[in-house]
Amino acid sequence: MDFQLTEDQIAIRDLARSFATEVCAPTAAERDRKEEFPAAEFRKAAELGLAGLLIPEQYGGAGLGNLELSLALIEINQADASVGVTLSVHNSLVSSLINCWGSEEIKTRYLPRLASGEWIGAYALSETGSGSDAGSLTCKAQRNGDDFVITGSKAWITSGDQAGLFVLFARTGPDGNKGISAFVVEAGLPGIQVGKKEPKMGIRSSSTVQLHLDGVRIPAANLLGELNAGFKVALHTLDGGRIGIACQGLGIMQACLASSLKYAREREQFGKPIAEFQPIQWKLAEMEVRIQSARLLIYRAAVLKDAGQQHCSAAALAKLVASRGANWCGREAIQIHGGAGYCTDFPVERFFRDARITEIYEGTTEIQKLVIARSLLAE
Ligand code: CAA
Repeated sequence: MDFQLTEDQIAIRDLARSFATEVCAPTAAERDRKEEFPAAEFRKAAELGLAGLLIPEQYGGAGLGNLELSLALIEINQADASVGVTLSVHNSLVSSLINCWGSEEIKTRYLPRLASGEWIGAYALSETGSGSDAGSLTCKAQRNGDDFVITGSKAWITSGDQAGLFVLFARTGPDGNKGISAFVVEAGLPGIQVGKKEPKMGIRSSSTVQLHLDGVRIPAANLLGELNAGFKVALHTLDGGRIGIACQGLGIMQACLASSLKYAREREQFGKPIAEFQPIQWKLAEMEVRIQSARLLIYRAAVLKDAGQQHCSAAALAKLVASRGANWCGREAIQIHGGAGYCTDFPVERFFRDARITEIYEGTTEIQKLVIARSLLAE
């Protein structure tokens, strides 16, 4: 196995690193405090081509794969997990789904707008009553002539109030996961109302809202994939999304380690830098173990996905290890910083708060275990 990145992959990583350090990092803490959406940062990312990484060149994207996207997302999340999730959902859930399941007409109409960043994409699967049990959703789409008419509500929608379009899942058939279809829904249509904006513990600069749809009419051509086959489209797409959230966990871990190394070298107690004490060294070493493990699992999942091979369990493994690692590193980074780490003068309390969601969205840690176990039992 060759662990070397190509020159192009290194170039993407370095581009994302400069974007992260020069554009995202200086404003991350203030946007977090004000719960301010990173609109300018998203526009800049799009100018650099980071909004269309998975979109083929013929539709205005970079035509790259999940490994390149992962390299970029790790860097961005190290600086700012809110920009990270905005770009992860836009690329790995919305753009990739439309590219994989959209008709030629749909791809031609929507992918260039997503690639250029003119429109932000949002993924509308969850509802207040259907989270882990995604197959029980109740938002309805009824065929009416050449249209579908959609009525219902969606919840926990990342960038839902900023989006130009949603990939939305609605019930078109019987109860259960065999009666769900996927659609592209333009955000400006009559009958769509943005509901409650969630006041969050972490990733506060990203936006998370409810959506209400009342008789929203869309062309039947906006169906993605086959009628009533939308649940598999959702899960297949989430396999890619979970690699993106694993990158978020890894980026947060790297940020925790970088801050901890700096502080441990500078902070003196009992007449020497605290980095010279073994309990601190063990924490730093444990962080590195989690970082390197997550990186290998992320690269493996991304390479399998790019090769068109089975990657469902690999993505779940990467997400589980990276998200648990991020929570561990966030906690221990604060411990190394002591009282200073508990205060907002240092960024580690933000890393700790941002890490918490990585074990919840795009499938909880418990759901990742279920996916991994089902894959073992199916062998
Ligand atoms: N790809 C393609 N098809 C898949 C699949 C995958 N990864 N996983 C399962 N399937 C297929 C199965 O083979 C099965 O097909 P058949 O009926 O033909 O055999 C079908 O899909 C149904 O699968 P299950 O019976 O396993 O379905 P289930 O109802 O038991 O649910 C689950 C499985 C793993 C619990 C799933 O519901 C799940 O992942 N839940 C978590 C939902 C989730 O991650 N939500 C995230 C919300 S989006 C978000 O957070 C975005 C954001 O904005 C940040």
